[in-house]
Amino acid sequence: MMTLKVNGHDHQIDADPDTPLLYVLRDDIKLNAAKFGCGLGQCGACTVIVDGKAVLSCVTPLLLLEGKQVTTLEGLGTIDAPAPIQRAFMEEQAAQCGYCIAGMMMRAQALLQKNPKPTDAQIRAELEPHLCRCGTHMRILRAVHRAARLMDTAELSSTTQAIVHGSAP
Ligand code: FES
Repeated sequence: MMTLKVNGHDHQIDADPDTPLLYVLRDDIKLNAAKFGCGLGQCGACTVIVDGKAVLSCVTPLLLLEGKQVTTLEGLGTIDAPAPIQRAFMEEQAAQCGYCIAGMMMRAQALLQKNPKPTDAQIRAELEPHLCRCGTHMRILRAVHRAARLMDTAELSSTTQAIVHGSAP
């Protein structure tokens, strides 16, 4: 039995330590945004964020996750209150079949957390491990740039609010 922290909640998981995180997310915790594509670490569909870094959950065993913070697409936002990355992908209509999109968004989110204004080349390099056979690549690129702008605006507006409410440093 181990405690797995996912999207800010603790889950008691009774599984073999070698069990891939993807199976636990989908089968035990019932979070199914991360997808099973290849199961071999070759397509990116299963990508989630662990302690700020994008990881392939199909090849990440539970035993590596004790004390770590796992974030899935469900942990970013909701349909009613989407996170900037989710809103940007919707506004750019960046999904076609949608199978790869959760993984793409999670890696893009991890990228934007460490590099808030990535160049085209940096986004392409980061998303390179992700396979998409629909061909919406240019829209995906635009969506990541849009998310960067949205995050910047959200940050500006929360700073403005802090100033208005007198809690800014
Ligand atoms: Fe994990 Fe393809 S399902 S990389």
